[in-house]
Amino acid sequence: MKKIYIYKGFERFWHWVQATLIIFLALTGFEVHGSFEVFGFESAVKFHRVASYALLLLIAFSIFWHFTTGEWKQYLPTTKKLRSQIRYYISGIFKGDKHPSKKTELSKLNPLQKLVYLGFKIVLIPLVIITGILYLNYKVVDANNIIVISEIPLDAIAVLHTLGAFLLIAFLIVHVYMTTTGHTATSNIKAMLTGYEEIEDDKEEITEVKNEN
Ligand code: HEM
Repeated sequence: MKKIYIYKGFERFWHWVQATLIIFLALTGFEVHGSFEVFGFESAVKFHRVASYALLLLIAFSIFWHFTTGEWKQYLPTTKKLRSQIRYYISGIFKGDKHPSKKTELSKLNPLQKLVYLGFKIVLIPLVIITGILYLNYKVVDANNIIVISEIPLDAIAVLHTLGAFLLIAFLIVHVYMTTTGHTATSNIKAMLTGYEEIEDDKEEITEVKNEN
């Protein structure tokens, strides 16, 4: 086995703070929605707003980090090995097959992860954020008459925001399951905590993956 440095400091900080904020936003958001009562409606509204500002700030920093470090390239989709990756998750994994892609410092995501995380970053998160910002500014913008967004029915904004919230929760459940499919059940989570992951020291295959990039 060989230890390699996969996740950098900021990346780990951003990942865990984002996860905490999303879970907290789901908790407070669904209380606002009327699904259950934990903090009380007024407090849930207040907490949801504060947490959403924190998430927006975090995302602004993470966009800056992705572009200044060139890490955004990790998410460029590829069809290479995509089929074998899907086949692996559907059947190979249950038969003890070898993982079709190897993680390296240069390529930390498998082809399916690249596609799913790209969708998360450019479709799902923007859906929740844009509808959330419209929701947040609905009355203010309308009253000041700066930008007339009252043309969009508030109902539509609420439904799309809630849809995004449901999809985020579905993502979270699948994501947590997927984290257990690494070398050991906890190796991926440990890597996101420490930055280091243990992988099989298969020099030939690692060189092959590096060459592909
Ligand atoms: C930057 C991100 C976000 C912003 C700006 C935002 C903003 C808002 C606003 C303004 C409301 C209406 C309640 C209120 O006045 O406070 C709301 C409701 C809600 N939010 Fe968010 N939110 C964000 C992220 C999230 C996330 C990540 C989730 C869940 C994972 C979520 C789930 C919900 C739900 C379920 C509701 C109730 C919708 C309804 O029943 O009308 N929100 N959000």
